[in-house]
Amino acid sequence: MLERLGLMPTQASTVSGDVDALYLSLVGLSLVFSLGIAAALAYFAIAYRRRSEAHEAEQIHGSLALELVWSIIPFTIAMGIFIWGASLFVTLKRPPDNALEIFAVGKQWMWKLQHLEGRREINALHIPVGRPVKVTLTSEDVIHSFFVPAFRVKQDAVPGRYSTVWFEATKTGSFHLFCAEYCGTEHSGMIGTVTVMEPDDYQDWLSAEMAGGMAGTAQGDDPLSVAAAGGELFRGLGCHTCHRQTAGALGPSLTELFGSQVSLRGGRTVLADEAYLRESIVDPRAKLVDGYQPVMPTFQGQVSEEGLMQLVAYIKSLAAEQDS
Ligand code: CUA
Repeated sequence: MLERLGLMPTQASTVSGDVDALYLSLVGLSLVFSLGIAAALAYFAIAYRRRSEAHEAEQIHGSLALELVWSIIPFTIAMGIFIWGASLFVTLKRPPDNALEIFAVGKQWMWKLQHLEGRREINALHIPVGRPVKVTLTSEDVIHSFFVPAFRVKQDAVPGRYSTVWFEATKTGSFHLFCAEYCGTEHSGMIGTVTVMEPDDYQDWLSAEMAGGMAGTAQGDDPLSVAAAGGELFRGLGCHTCHRQTAGALGPSLTELFGSQVSLRGGRTVLADEAYLRESIVDPRAKLVDGYQPVMPTFQGQVSEEGLMQLVAYIKSLAAEQDS
């Protein structure tokens, strides 16, 4: 009903209903308490007013029953909200394993998005309906925020780190994409459209790129997948001269790296995830792998954020090949 009145955006993802239920319950609870307190205030002001000059108030010194009631009820309500909110938060923060991957870079003032197969978009995102989609976000300059009201998801894109957001669209159609973090003069113009398509239409749309590109893509003539582009970059930057599989290589082999536990100097271990790979490229000395010298130069400023995402995708693909 709120949707039809224009008070709420369309519900178009698997979590929309859950987010709305929590939100409306909190609003409802606040209303019940606000109105109850206001009513009690008015009632007490009248019922216990001073009736004459000689009228003395009756003093009450403690009531265990009353204190228990006003402690236990709010505690129960607060814990209920916490558990409800936390479980929804966990759902929102954990992308399913089979999610489609999209890379997104925010920059003043546009969203640059890339599909794993290589298709690029600016301020537009095409996705299939009924399939979880995981977006890995970062920023080239300042903090932006990826906000799709119809999906009830919003996630900051922070320079220097990766964050993720996931959703599964339940309806086909076009939905607003906003930047929800004030990021400069044209922040209000940093908007786009998420187009949800039937899976077959999505496949056609993806392969339209391979057939020679379409208007609206940044590099329409580039049919390389993200990982393949990362591979070219990897060789172009000369990474393979040190990261070899042969004995005595200057850098550790990267073939089975992604998803593994890496032993660092000093005895610590770290999970080789996207953030670790990115950090090791821009700041190689932050986490030194046990048994190797700190000889790798930093690539900070030499590789764009999109390039970093491609390199990460390439290194991920090396591990995936080993699995299969
Ligand atoms: Cu980007 Cu606001």
